[in-house]
Amino acid sequence: MVTALVTGGAGVLGRAVVRALADAGHHVVSVDLPGTAGPDGADAIAADLTDTERARSVLAEVGPAMVVHLAAIAVPFSRPETELLRTNLSLAHNVCEAAVAVGAGSVVLASSPTVMGYGRPGWRPRYLPLDEDHPVAPWHAYALSKVATEQLAAMYARRGERTRFAVVRPGYVISPEQWAGAPTQDGSTIGERLADPAIAARSLFNYVDARDAADLVVRLGDADVPSGEVFFACAADPLARAPLADLLPRDYPAPPAGPAFSIDKAARLLGWRPGRSWRTEFAGGPR
Ligand SMILES: NC(=O)c1ccc[n+]([C@@H]2O[C@H](COP(=O)([O-])OP(=O)(O)OC[C@H]3O[C@@H](n4cnc5c(N)ncnc54)[C@H](O)[C@@H]3O)[C@@H](O)[C@H]2O)c1
Repeated sequence: MVTALVTGGAGVLGRAVVRALADAGHHVVSVDLPGTAGPDGADAIAADLTDTERARSVLAEVGPAMVVHLAAIAVPFSRPETELLRTNLSLAHNVCEAAVAVGAGSVVLASSPTVMGYGRPGWRPRYLPLDEDHPVAPWHAYALSKVATEQLAAMYARRGERTRFAVVRPGYVISPEQWAGAPTQDGSTIGERLADPAIAARSLFNYVDARDAADLVVRLGDADVPSGEVFFACAADPLARAPLADLLPRDYPAPPAGPAFSIDKAARLLGWRPGRSWRTEFAGGPR
């Protein structure tokens, strides 16, 4: 039985990743801030992983073969920019350094599609659908922290570390409770996002079911792909009732019939396809 350590295991994506790893037969240890509820399917350790010594001692104590690093301030502009950058950077660096030090076989890091730079007035994509080769253009501390997280993975790969790194950029993550009506990350419900396209337009209508994203994370844990690779994890359709051609700004490159983000790389290299769509999961139904 392989021990997998999930940072931020009490969070929205973390709970789904813990469940998927446990279902895959792993012994799962979740590490999250004191005061957070331990997720089902994992042993729980309370720790603030911005503390370098604490991060090192937790990973040494657990000795994981696989590390999934999700802990972060996960919402842009939800804290002062300096605090957000410092927190996310120290979390990612502490966890990566500790994982390499204990000889973990793999580390999967959560990045975000926001590295593309959308949401900034005047931003436009060079081409659509966006793929992992599209240039990044962060314009706030959250996106910058994710570019740095991706560069950490690239750095360890370049150094030839035995630990294999992979990066996942999940779309706007939706949990089963949120399909059923609970507020999503920005406070809107799925029903509101579908009724008012201006809301989902902020993230170019991307989204992913938490369980589908978790499935990709589990695959990345023991995938035979080069270290440092980056993968979008998005649904196969936009979170919208109308086609993107009717919703995206007129001065964008011609939009695809499907979503604005390509998931071809994960399909090609990992055999991953998202199994869920808002049309099958949203309690309010496809109409
Ligand atoms: N939710 C999304 O739509 C989305 C999209 C793209 C990327 N992501 C990324 O995925 C990851 C998980 O996102 P989420 O939506 O589950 O966020 P979340 O806020 O639900 O979970 C993050 C978890 O990290 C923990 N955490 C924060 N600071 C910590 C610290 N100092 N030490 C230990 N734990 C700490 C929090 O307590 C929380 O449980 C994040 O890295 C986020 O940036 C999320």
